[in-house]
Amino acid sequence: MKNKYGALASLVYELDKPVGVSFGDVEYYLKRLQQIDGLILEPGVGNGRFLIPLLKAGKSVVGLDSSEPMLAHARAALTKHQVSARLELNTFQGYQTDERYEAIVMPVGSFQLIDSFDTATELLAHFRNMLSEKGRLLIDIDPAHSIFLGEPSVRKWRLSPRDCVTLSTKRLAIDYVSQVTTELHRYELWEDGVLQKTELEEFSLRWWGANELALAFKVAGFTDIVISGGYEFSRKPSNEDSIITVEGVKKT
Ligand SMILES: C[S@@+](CC[C@H](N)C(=O)[O-])C[C@H]1O[C@@H](n2cnc3c(N)ncnc32)[C@H](O)[C@@H]1O
Repeated sequence: MKNKYGALASLVYELDKPVGVSFGDVEYYLKRLQQIDGLILEPGVGNGRFLIPLLKAGKSVVGLDSSEPMLAHARAALTKHQVSARLELNTFQGYQTDERYEAIVMPVGSFQLIDSFDTATELLAHFRNMLSEKGRLLIDIDPAHSIFLGEPSVRKWRLSPRDCVTLSTKRLAIDYVSQVTTELHRYELWEDGVLQKTELEEFSLRWWGANELALAFKVAGFTDIVISGGYEFSRKPSNEDSIITVEGVKKT
């Protein structure tokens, strides 16, 4: 399975982006969700980096993720920060519920992990069905340029003075028709200079045009669609922006 976030990938995510890290998304989403008292769904909740501050701000959030190692980090974060939330182990597409959410939020590009246009557009309709009347959907996308800029790289995180984990990334393919980039991620766990474990992951991202995603929102049954650049609500994105947010309201 692509984009599977195995044990080492999840460990690296936790080391690199623990609770407390914000890309401006936490503050922006908290503002946009200010009026919301009911349930919020975060598909791709990961290690809880984004979830925990929402809970601390008094929001009720359900976290959904297909990676058990990621959810293990999220559970530990809930305990550490003494907050609670229901965490569901499932795929975006497979998650079914009778609950209706006042908002569904996908910060920092998790939506781009769905590398099939058809699956992604079906998912928007699925999200619409899980929203309550006037429920909101907010999705971040990385602009195409930040996806293409990815050079082969090696990064390292220390676990202790003698132990570390490394991540090497290499581009495998760019499909300009399907708008999908694929990288090979090689995670390695080292103890005292000896390789203990290797984890390979094929990592695909689909890039979206902002207007393309806004149109997909419309087709899926959303209205009042707003495109915002750099976490400034309704500011037209510019070339310099490293993040774009599309927001819409369920059409009744
Ligand atoms: C980039 S992380 C985002 C984590 C968190 N939302 C944050 O803001 O830091 C993306 C998460 O999406 C999850 N994921 C990827 N594909 C998925 C799928 N098809 N269904 C459910 N979760 C998925 C991964 O396991 C990972 O935890």
